Amino acid sequence: MRRFTNQTVLVTGGTGGQGTSHVRALHAEGANVVIGAINADRGAALADELGDRAFYTHLDVTDEDSWSAAVRATESTFGALHVLVNNAGVQNPPAPIEETDQTTWSRILDVNLTGTFLGIKAAAPALRRATGGAIVNIASTMGMGGTAHYAPYVASKWAVRGLTQTAALELGRDRIRVNTIHPGVIATPFIHEPAAGATAAIADFYSPEPFAVPRLGEPIDVTRLLLFLASSEASFITGSEYVIDGGLLLGPALQAA
Ligand SMILES: NC(=O)c1ccc[n+]([C@@H]2O[C@H](COP(=O)([O-])OP(=O)(O)OC[C@H]3O[C@@H](n4cnc5c(N)ncnc54)[C@H](O)[C@@H]3O)[C@@H](O)[C@H]2O)c1
Repeated sequence: MRRFTNQTVLVTGGTGGQGTSHVRALHAEGANVVIGAINADRGAALADELGDRAFYTHLDVTDEDSWSAAVRATESTFGALHVLVNNAGVQNPPAPIEETDQTTWSRILDVNLTGTFLGIKAAAPALRRATGGAIVNIASTMGMGGTAHYAPYVASKWAVRGLTQTAALELGRDRIRVNTIHPGVIATPFIHEPAAGATAAIADFYSPEPFAVPRLGEPIDVTRLLLFLASSEASFITGSEYVIDGGLLLGPALQAA
């Protein structure tokens, strides 16, 4: 039996690099998938490709009404919502704090932090109606420490950790688990395309070569962890954080000469 048979999963940013991987794998594991995204063409194409048990719904994670509509559409199409993946995210153009304007700060916090808050808020009643489920928040290794020139992104992802732990405490007795994944550097448009307002992409100045596993992460690396955390195999895990970074946070794997 596949791990998500008769389960419905909503993935935000479901047309992005990691989101697409999550959506495809969850669908292959038997889930009904709801592709929540702001790119209608890509969302519709992915839903068409998957066929049965998949649909695209417009979901701007910064908009509470958009969340209500997406959860409503999910329940009316598939009868229930069992898993929410808060995956949508944006990065700031790199700049020191003194040169970061408030508009940029707010835009990043709105998507990465407020979007996750609104998602938990909108999904919790539906997950309760389904008699339990899971929420997986996608943060970042940048939320585990400071990174120069990424203050809005770091602050937003760091805050998701506190939000996850608080939600885990509030929802645990309703059999709703809430966990966070911290990806390292994953090969998606996120690192291969410059952030809005930037000229260089992360991949232009980052090399995985010094680290323990000297390669970029692939979306499927994160997906495999997500499948575990979202499934009943992880029924005793809540409020936890999982780093998946090939050893990036350990620092350079210097070898004795
Ligand atoms: N790629 C990496 O190296 C990396 C590392 C750590 C964490 N992450 C996180 O992983 C998640 C997925 O990123 P990815 O690598 O797939 O990048 P991506 O840029 O391919 O995907 C991000 C998705 O978020 C969507 N999005 C942006 N604003 C939105 C909004 N207001 N409402 C709904 N969707 C919105 C985009 O349309 C896009 O589809 C993000 O939360 C990102 O912060 C990425």
